[in-house]
Amino acid sequence: MNATLIKRLFRVIQSGTSADVDVLCRRIVDEEKKQGHGRVAKELEQILTAKQPPKSGPHTGTLQRLPTSRRESAPLMQEIPVDKLRHHMVLPDSVERRFHRIEKEFAARTRLAKHGLKPRHRILLYGPPGCGKSLGAERLAWNTGLPLRKVRFDTLMSSYFGETMTNLRRVFDAAQNSPCALFLDECDSLARSRTERNDVGEITRITNALLEMLEDYKGDGLVIAATNLDSALDSALFRRFDEVLKVPLPGTEEICRLLKTTLSPMETDAGIVWREIARAMDGMSGSEVVHIAQNAAKHSVLEGRRSVGEADIRRALTEILERQQAQE
Ligand SMILES: Nc1ncnc2c1ncn2[C@@H]1O[C@H](COP(=O)(O)OP(=O)(O)OP(=O)(O)O)[C@@H](O)[C@H]1O
Ligand SMILES: [Mg+2]
Repeated sequence: MNATLIKRLFRVIQSGTSADVDVLCRRIVDEEKKQGHGRVAKELEQILTAKQPPKSGPHTGTLQRLPTSRRESAPLMQEIPVDKLRHHMVLPDSVERRFHRIEKEFAARTRLAKHGLKPRHRILLYGPPGCGKSLGAERLAWNTGLPLRKVRFDTLMSSYFGETMTNLRRVFDAAQNSPCALFLDECDSLARSRTERNDVGEITRITNALLEMLEDYKGDGLVIAATNLDSALDSALFRRFDEVLKVPLPGTEEICRLLKTTLSPMETDAGIVWREIARAMDGMSGSEVVHIAQNAAKHSVLEGRRSVGEADIRRALTEILERQQAQE
């Protein structure tokens, strides 16, 4: 195997997703075949096909039947399989440290309990769209080994009086009885859908019920809520969380890392001035930056080139900017 491939393999293991590792492994097999190392290539291929699914976390064995809504028996939660959890995030150091602290405290929960202490376990993630709030919840589940169970607001919200509350109670009871990372994604949707119905009494009752359930939650897992809004959320709700984490827009440094990470399964031209390109993406979300890098990679593959160049990235950037302008 040549040095470039070895370096790329290490880079991908360090920062890529398991899909990236797969792509690169297949390139290595091709390379071995091309060099006439048929036996090695075959053995490597066999290893790839015999690949085991990722090990489940310490709690996945405890999976019990997930709760359903009373009237329609529709599932109130959806469990994301461990091998589908994305967990590679690019964050400013200060934010990364706070994520890491939650994971460290969880890992040390038995030691903390001996001193009467509890790990931070009620987490609120907020920030602009596309910057990694949902990804952050997946990463917390991955790193703690907890199964990620996402609340389905579509089935939770019932038009029948009092039923939403019963459903919410079922969700929290289930989380209490079987440790998991209970994920209330876009939790502001609770407030929004209630406002649309203009049922102020119901809004207050459900918000209060949610506050109470958060406060009473004594489970061994995590409760993670995510929202785009920081002002519209009830300030009492903010107080109920023991970690309120802003997931910010990426800065120049993070944009550079996002571009390089996304492009890590590909070769990139030497001499790309990453910081300059990143500066041109100032104010964009992580999701937009990843899209630009993916589009640049696709373009270079379609053009039959093996290496992504600065022009590919700039082209993809211009395309996104033009699309945004057209929408304004
Ligand atoms: N900090 C980040 N690190 C790595 N990838 C990121 C980051 N932020 C965004 N992305 C990329 O953008 C995609 C979308 O991110 P995600 O869904 O977590 O955003 P979000 O904050 O939950 O957005 P929304 O408010 O719209 O729900 C991710 O799958 C990932 O590819
Ligand atoms: Mg999200």
